[in-house]
This record gives sequence, C-alpha cells and structure tokens, in this order.
Amino acid sequence: MCGIVGYCGPRVISDILIEGLRRLEYRGYDSAGISITDGDEFTTVKKKGKIKDLASAVPQEIDGLAGIGHTRWATHGEVTDTNAHPHTDNSGKVVIVHNGIIENYEALKSRLKQNGHRFMTQTDSEVIAHLIAELYAGDLEKALLEVLPLLKGTYGLAVMHQDEPGKIVGVRNGSPLVLGVGEDEMFLASDVTAILQYTRDAIYLNDGDLVSVTKDGYKTFDVHHNEVSKNIEQINWEINQIEKDGFPHFMEKEIFEQVESIKRAFTGRLNRDSATGHLGGLDMEPRDLLTVQRVKIIAAGTSYYASIIGAYLIERIARIPAQAELSSEVRYKNPIVEPNTLYFAVSQSGETADTLYAMRELQRKGARVLGLCNVVGSTIARESDGGVYLHSGPEIAVASTKAFTSQLTIFYVFTLILARIRHMGVEDGLDFINALEKVPSQIGELLKKTEELKTLAKKYYTYENFLFLGRGLNYAVALEGALKLKEVSYIHAEGYSAAEIKHGPIALINESTPSLFIVPDDALREKVISNMKEVKARKGRLIAFAVEGDDEVANIADDVFFVPKSHELMYPFLMVLPAQVFAYYCAIELGRNVDQPRNLAKSVTVE
Ligand code: G6P
Repeated sequence: MCGIVGYCGPRVISDILIEGLRRLEYRGYDSAGISITDGDEFTTVKKKGKIKDLASAVPQEIDGLAGIGHTRWATHGEVTDTNAHPHTDNSGKVVIVHNGIIENYEALKSRLKQNGHRFMTQTDSEVIAHLIAELYAGDLEKALLEVLPLLKGTYGLAVMHQDEPGKIVGVRNGSPLVLGVGEDEMFLASDVTAILQYTRDAIYLNDGDLVSVTKDGYKTFDVHHNEVSKNIEQINWEINQIEKDGFPHFMEKEIFEQVESIKRAFTGRLNRDSATGHLGGLDMEPRDLLTVQRVKIIAAGTSYYASIIGAYLIERIARIPAQAELSSEVRYKNPIVEPNTLYFAVSQSGETADTLYAMRELQRKGARVLGLCNVVGSTIARESDGGVYLHSGPEIAVASTKAFTSQLTIFYVFTLILARIRHMGVEDGLDFINALEKVPSQIGELLKKTEELKTLAKKYYTYENFLFLGRGLNYAVALEGALKLKEVSYIHAEGYSAAEIKHGPIALINESTPSLFIVPDDALREKVISNMKEVKARKGRLIAFAVEGDDEVANIADDVFFVPKSHELMYPFLMVLPAQVFAYYCAIELGRNVDQPRNLAKSVTVE
C-alpha cells in the first residue's frame, strides 16, 4: 500500500528520500511527498503523480538533519497535491507520514474542529498531526504514545516535531515498519528495498513497538514507554535483485527469473535417498504431520490461486481433505477451527491485511497457522506458528508472477512429504521428485518461445473480453491467467472451469470474445476438447495452450501455443508461464504501465 521512508544522517536528505520512495513506489503510486527539517523549519514538497513528478518538483538538493517521505495509495480523499503526505498541524510544527487507515477519524476530526483545529486535507491521516500537536509537551515519544490509544485502525507512522530537530519517531500497528541501522545514520522504511543499498542491518518492528531515531542511534520502546531491546537482523537480498538488470520491466525480468526461483524454492528441500521432502521451517516431525486430518489454506489474489492448486494437489495426491479460502472471507465468517487441521497463510508480501487478520483470528481460535511468505521478516512470517520462505527474491512488479510458481513449488514439496508419510511408496516419491526437478529446464524451454506469445498478443490485444478456461489442477491456472490479463492490460477476462461454461458463461460467446483453453494431456483432456467444440460451434474464437504434438487440439483451435510434454501434475507451472507472458505482451501492445498498473498496489495493508 503506501510506502514510508525516513532518514537521519549526513547524506543529502532529499536524495535519500526520493531514491527510497522510488524503491517503494510499487507499494502505492498516486502521489508522493517529503518533509525535511534543517533545525529551524520544515521544507515540504508534495506532488500528485509518480515519484519522478515529485523529483522534478524538488527545486534543488535539500539538506538538513532529518526527513520523512511517503508514496500514497489513496484511501480517504482524492488524489491531489494537498492530500499527499506528509501532513502537518496548524502550527506547522508537526509532520507525519501514515500508512494504514484511521477508522474513527471523522469523530476525532469533529472534536478537534471544536477545539479550533482547521483541516487542510480530506485524509483520515491528518488527524494524527493535530492530535500530536494538541498533546505535545516537549516530548514527541510521549505525545505519540498518548495519541495512539485514541486511534482506531491501522498505522505505520513516522513523525517529526520542529522542537526536536534531527529526530524521527516511528510506530506501527498493522502496517510494516523497519529500521535500518547505519554507522552514523538511521533509516526507517515500510520495507527493506528502500534501505538495501545503504545498510544490511535491519530491525523489524512489531505491532506496538515505537522507535526513536537520530543520526547517532536509536531507541525502541513498548507502548508504556519502557525501553526494549530488539535484535538486528541481516537483510540477505542483493541490490541487483531490485534493479531491472537490463529488462524493460520488472514483470518481464521476474517472469524470466522463474527458472531460478523455482529451483531455489525446492533446493535443499528434496531428498532422493528417502524419496521425500523436508521443510524445516514447518517445525513438524513426521509424527506431527501424521495427525493432520485436514489442510486449510487462506490467501488473497494470486496467492489464493496458487493455494487452490495446492489444496487440489494435497487432496488428490496426499489424500488429505484440503481447501483454499479467501482470507478476506475467512476472517468474518466466524470460522470453525477443528483439531488436527493444519492451516497455511499464503502471502508473497507477508503483509496483506486480509490474510494477516484472518490468520490472527484463526490463531485466537486455537489454530496452528503456518506461513508461506516471500518477504523475510514480514508480519505473517513472524506471527505464524512456523512456515516456509519462498526464496524468490524481491518481487517488484505489482502483478505477481514468480511468487506464484514458487508457492506452487512449496505446495508440491509439502504434498510429497504428506503423501510419503502415508501411502506413497519410494518409487512414486522419486518419480514426483524427478518431475518437479525437471520443471525449471522446461520453463527455460518455454522462455525461448516468448516471440510466439508476442505474436499471439499482437493478434488479440484489441479484443475487449476474454474467457480463460481450464480444469482440475489447471482450473486455477485459468483463474490466474485471467487475473494477469486484467491486472496489466485492463482487458476484461473471466477465469472459469471449462466444465462450468455451459452453466452460464457460454451465453457470452460470440466472435468478439475469445476463449483461451488450457489443455494438458491429462485425464480431463477429452472433456476439455468437448468444451472447446461447444465454443467453436457458437463461433467463438479459440486459443489453446496445449501439449507438444497435440494435433487434435491444434486443429480445433484458431491459435495454439505448445508446452513441452511433462508429468501430468506439473502442467500448472508450464501453463501459467505462457499466460503470464501473453498478459505482459498484451499490456505492452496497449501501452500500459506494466509494473504499476492503475489502481493496484503490491502489498495491500488495508482491508
Ligand atoms: C495485491 C497484489 C496482488 C497479490 C495480492 C496478494 O492485490 O496486487 O498481486 O496477489 O495483493 O498479495 P500477497 O502479498 O498476500 O501474496
């Protein structure tokens, strides 16, 4: 969602803040701003638009003692220069940047108005600046701690006061905040991408932690203002991982990275001698796993679609009932937590509010929830009861690609572990391992054929509606393919089970609504071919992603893209890849902002 950056130290502060915001831009990108204190006064620049617009609005380098910056994804109040953060109070002595939502801001605002405060923006966040100003009595930490109990909602906050120049106070509740520790400089940020080029030493704040930083050091406190000590952790991402590295877009780079990222997700986690897998982070021995009678998976967006495939696989191969659910729905349905049910919370960012809050609700009811996250030190990773990291490396493009296939990989390894504990023999276990280990090179083969997908995109990008259709393990690939196309090209696309179209969507079929069928050579192939014929009979255009040598499908479809023949269970990897690439090229043809599509945010930290 929004991104926060703060800096105290000797470098040119405007440069550090703008560069940090550029790194955080994927979190939110409708407006941005910075405030810098030189000891006497704040210089604030706020601009609607991208970080480059903010950068050109900054007249020259602004030096000083400390500064905070923000990149906004609007929740309350239109996208305008005024509504951009930082916000201030009427005296101009307090500046704040806020990520999250203050749910009771209307009530707070009317009380503050009665006390004579004048509001300059339509945002919920501005009340925080006024409240701090009202309660300030010479100690910013203290004032902030008095304000926090008045706020209902979520926040990652960074605050400065003119009477304490050179100091930034940060606090979090539901929105991430990390402290970067340098030699004679300190950083605050919503995520480590903003600080990676300056320091590898990070402190991940927990909800309720308050941190006070100056260039010379930092102090961390609990909500009662007692000083607490926090561990410094090492950031293990490399700077080139957050650069485009010669690719025109992060999305393309991340699609191409999948050869390596899938490999990284299973490396060290498969064991040929015992023909099984090992996921140390689960912290569960075979005897614990043997008691598992049901698996439930919660997630949002692309992670949800990976979870549907995970659940399908676990049930089909490990023979344990498994189900994926939208985390946003789980939280409010008063979920029943049964003993011997193992939960997974799946999230690339590890910060998605819907998933985090659903996880907490399940934990309150006694569930054991394992995290499946990419971002190390993220809230879900830290609050889950064990878990597995994807090791995909940073995913910067807003539309998720490599995290999806890494999530699948972990579910495949987990399925193998569960199945081997129960009924799967050594030989089948080895077959499974062989098939999974082949996937990266097969993805590599597919990536040599992206020109074909570019040609396909050039032929189809002008269509306004698409259907994506698949079945079985590839049903959720159809959902993900449709989502990718929607997200990056803004072409309307619906994902459906191929079997389900006859129950409604077939009414949409005509010459101007192409259907993209996913047709692996599995047990459902014949049935999917029948569905293709049903569409063709109604003059629908047909694109098929099919298996090398499948002439029958090629003859029915108007256009076909072939994937290499594979183990039946591995097709979700091979079928999603062309869907990602197709979406990418459609977006390019349409001149979209591929990495930062309109209205979206990479990490959605509000409900
Ligand atoms: C946002 C992103 C999606 C992502 C979803 C879940 O909506 O735009 O790309 O799939 O959040 O994110 P998570 O980090 O929990 O996987």
